[in-house]
Amino acid sequence: MAEAWQQRSNERFRREGYAEYYEGRYRSFLKGTLKHRMRCAVLRRAFREVPPGSLVLDIPCGTGRFTGFLLSRGYRVVGADIAPEMIRIAQGKAGGIPGVLGWAAADATRMPLPDKSVDSVLTMRLFHLIPKDVRPLVYRELARVCRGPLVLCFNCNKWALKHLGKRLRGKTPEYLMTRKELARELLGGGLRVERIHTKGFGPFSTLWAVVCRPA
Ligand SMILES: C[S@@+](CC[C@H](N)C(=O)[O-])C[C@H]1O[C@@H](n2cnc3c(N)ncnc32)[C@H](O)[C@@H]1O
Repeated sequence: MAEAWQQRSNERFRREGYAEYYEGRYRSFLKGTLKHRMRCAVLRRAFREVPPGSLVLDIPCGTGRFTGFLLSRGYRVVGADIAPEMIRIAQGKAGGIPGVLGWAAADATRMPLPDKSVDSVLTMRLFHLIPKDVRPLVYRELARVCRGPLVLCFNCNKWALKHLGKRLRGKTPEYLMTRKELARELLGGGLRVERIHTKGFGPFSTLWAVVCRPA
């Protein structure tokens, strides 16, 4: 039985036409090219110790916006997402590129993968969708399937100017944290932070790519 937050995600991301809409949002030069390149530059640093040929789980793969990045580095990739239509688009985009090992319609709280079966994990734009008390379960689940470093990405910078408006209106999202609070939360989910790579700095930093390992 799905919990309320899972139902909300299912309704939003599995809705008919949503995957096409999502993909369309990233066709502009600003989002699709400029911001994407900046994100990939951060990811390159985060993945620096993961050698080509490694097997990487991309969850949630969405429409495959970062699957291409992983494949371009010579990784073998498994993409997973709760929304089959998102996966279908990712599959189409990756078609013909060697390296894709498979796709799974799966929830991050219960991955259909054996223990220590992948070399690394990329998680981009997932944790803001998951309630605070559930996030540690997801960290543990990702750590269970991974035998190497995990690259977990967050847009949770409590002091980012981007979130100032919401904070001033008293609508502070519960996923906003300082680095210390995030490290503590990850530790509660059995993960030790090794380092954090950021896009931007201080209050301009909106992407934290956290490289962590099982504690
Ligand atoms: C904002 S999109 C990010 C997708 C991709 N990583 C990207 O950056 O474009 C969020 C994705 O998370 C997926 N999702 C939401 N909850 C999930 C869960 N519990 N397990 C797996 N995927 C989930 C949605 O279907 C959606 O594709």
